[in-house]
Amino acid sequence: MAYSTITNLDATAAQKHSHELLDRILSTESTTYVTGPTGTGNGERVLVLGGTGYIGRALVPELARRGYRPAVLSRSAEIKNEPEYADAEVIVGDATRAADVTAAVVAAPTAVVISLLSGRKPNDAEDCRQVDHEAVVHGIKAAVAHDVKQFIHISDYGVYRPELIPQVYKMQVEGELIGQHHGFVPWTIIRPTAYFPYLSVAFGDVKNGLAYRIYDHGEWNVVNPIAREDLAEFIVNQVLDDDAIGRVLPVGGPWTADNTVTLKGAGELMFELNDKQPSWEVVTMASWDKKIARLTRLSKLTKQLKPVVFYLEAAKYWSVVDHVAPAYGTRTLRGFMEKLVDREFPTGSYRERMRSGTNVMPTDI
Ligand SMILES: NC(=O)c1ccc[n+]([C@@H]2O[C@H](COP(=O)([O-])OP(=O)(O)OC[C@H]3O[C@@H](n4cnc5c(N)ncnc54)[C@H](OP(=O)(O)O)[C@@H]3O)[C@@H](O)[C@H]2O)c1
Repeated sequence: MAYSTITNLDATAAQKHSHELLDRILSTESTTYVTGPTGTGNGERVLVLGGTGYIGRALVPELARRGYRPAVLSRSAEIKNEPEYADAEVIVGDATRAADVTAAVVAAPTAVVISLLSGRKPNDAEDCRQVDHEAVVHGIKAAVAHDVKQFIHISDYGVYRPELIPQVYKMQVEGELIGQHHGFVPWTIIRPTAYFPYLSVAFGDVKNGLAYRIYDHGEWNVVNPIAREDLAEFIVNQVLDDDAIGRVLPVGGPWTADNTVTLKGAGELMFELNDKQPSWEVVTMASWDKKIARLTRLSKLTKQLKPVVFYLEAAKYWSVVDHVAPAYGTRTLRGFMEKLVDREFPTGSYRERMRSGTNVMPTDI
């Protein structure tokens, strides 16, 4: 059987699977978690590593609202002036330096350390190693050495099928925490599905009249993304909760039609909200696979091609792997995209994001 025929067969089977999974999710109530804030703090210090990124900007104010004392290790002193950090202690330092992390932990008695650390360039293997693994391990070691009561590792739903470099490091950290490789600290691992901006990355393109790229039928996978505000509430619910110790918690957003979608479904939402006729740029998975194989061979000779191969593989990964997890929260992908309609959305294309890292994602909605 020719390679392309196999891919076509897989494509048909994958579409059927996606439709069945969507039907199942949309006709079932997800009862694993109860949405709503549980537990409040009593001024305990919670150090957030990686707290200056997209999720950190929701988590830090949520910690303060719920009675904890958030502290953030930041590479820049500037964030002190930003409203999200008004109630936070900001320590200037770099999480990739063990001494900076230790200094942040010992600056005052610390009850909990939460890691949101993640390399800003997911296609740069060395950056990922330093941030997604080494810097997090600095945090675990400092927590072990200084009597921290809980280490919360924000992992990634993708570790169920780790294929991209950051996911492999996230999984490695999980194993080291569970196996107590760096000494004993009570741990909680949270595996969120995708975040809204990642499902909306082509919104600006669609708004500007460009086509939306899909592989074959665009229904290889299903995702229930989670809002950062809902994820922040969920994370704070686990803080110093005995029931969360030693648990791995997968979590996604609501199991509703405006939040649980195939990639084609996400595209349809963008066209509808921008009042445009759907226009698809169809790429066959078979041709994409061939491109990956060809560039992988070439990248063995030319190192500069490695990030390009990563881009192609990541684009495929996010288009074929289901990210469906138990539901938490009330906010939906549709609601998020509605906020994008009347504003300049500095997304750029997926290709641009791969080139520029996570900094091109909006952080204010
Ligand atoms: N994106 C998704 O859809 C998704 C899905 C599931 C799980 N996750 C995980 O959820 C967590 C939070 O994600 P996010 O979107 O909030 O991440 P983000 O916006 O990319 O923030 C990354 C954080 O890591 C810090 N960092 C990056 N490189 C660094 C370096 N070289 N040295 C020191 N600090 C560095 C950043 O500091 P600066 O601000 O100084 O750069 C920032 O605080 C991450 O672990 C991510 O992998 C993401």
